[in-house]
Amino acid sequence: MNTAVHAVLKNSPDALVIKQAAEIIRRGGLVAFPTETVYGLGADGTRDDAAHAIYRVKGRPADNPLILHIADPTDAEKYTYVSPLYEKLANAFMPGPLTVIMSAKETVPLSVRASLPTVAVRCPSHPVAQALIRASGTAIAAPSANLSGSPSPTCARHVYDDMQGRIDMILDGGDCDIGLESTIVKILDDQTMLLLRPGAITVEQLSKLANVQIADAVKGTLKEGQVAESPGMKYKHYAPKAELILLKGNDNARQNYILSQLDSSIAVLCYHEELSLYGPHIPEDRLFDLGKADDVPTHCNRLFRLLRQSDLPNVTRIFAPLPLAEGMGLALYNRMIRAAAHRITEI
Ligand code: TXA
Ligand code: MG
Repeated sequence: MNTAVHAVLKNSPDALVIKQAAEIIRRGGLVAFPTETVYGLGADGTRDDAAHAIYRVKGRPADNPLILHIADPTDAEKYTYVSPLYEKLANAFMPGPLTVIMSAKETVPLSVRASLPTVAVRCPSHPVAQALIRASGTAIAAPSANLSGSPSPTCARHVYDDMQGRIDMILDGGDCDIGLESTIVKILDDQTMLLLRPGAITVEQLSKLANVQIADAVKGTLKEGQVAESPGMKYKHYAPKAELILLKGNDNARQNYILSQLDSSIAVLCYHEELSLYGPHIPEDRLFDLGKADDVPTHCNRLFRLLRQSDLPNVTRIFAPLPLAEGMGLALYNRMIRAAAHRITEI
């Protein structure tokens, strides 16, 4: 299959290109598109066969459900039994990087929700995603547009590297603003939600609306044999071929440790301020800038790209600082411990 790549302007995508993409969705094909979080791999979320194609091309386990993307928060009613807490969350955070899990209506194909009684809905704010959903006239089922197990794509090039020849079209809308996937909450009752995946919408923000319980898998405390609330959380994820090693300790200890490990098989993800320290010892192509030490949104924005870039053929170990698990840092922490298969080195 030839994968067509079309560049579109983020704020005013070409209507003809969007129309073509929407036709592909309507006939059961696959279109990758940008969202404010990461690129999604979209198919008609009301068609069983279309959703099946997503699992096939991603190599995704059949028990890991998809998110239904809608253009207007009120469209959730078509697919779920919405609750008052959903209305509050929608008013506060939609369109935006939040996914909400609720009881599914029968209209949602079993393949989309991996046979669960619940379904995840999200209303993305990215103008290209909005235009595509509206033009398709349906909800779009979309996981992140990477091959299962590799980091989520934050630009069209990443999608192309994983998906060329497997899907019909890629809409290239440039780099994603956030760079980590949406926050996922499951509504338990009108006063309580369960955080399944942290993201740019933080626990602090959610707590203003209702109680927030945090699933064990979020901080990586899932015990051997324990079932993850969100099926996706149990899979090894974002994993580079090299070993990612997270260093926990103060700046000095971390820097000295890295300088004691120098050889030609290491790569380092470091804060901007540390570049001049490592620069004389580590070649440019193995040293990666996460952004200024206090700029957590930039660390989030760069993480997946740097995991792809640092995974070089001759690199066997990638060192990175373990972030603080608070605010948006919780999302970064969650992705990094999963990419590192929970390997944390205390120094
Ligand atoms: O930002 C995002 O959410 C991106 C963009 C494309 O919208 N999408 C995304 O989808 O990250 P995906 O498939 O890579 O991650 C969806 C996660 C998975 O971990 C899955 O297990 C969980 O959501 N999930 C979906 N439906 C669920 C349900 N009914 N119950 C529990 N977890 C669910
Ligand atoms: Mg994913």
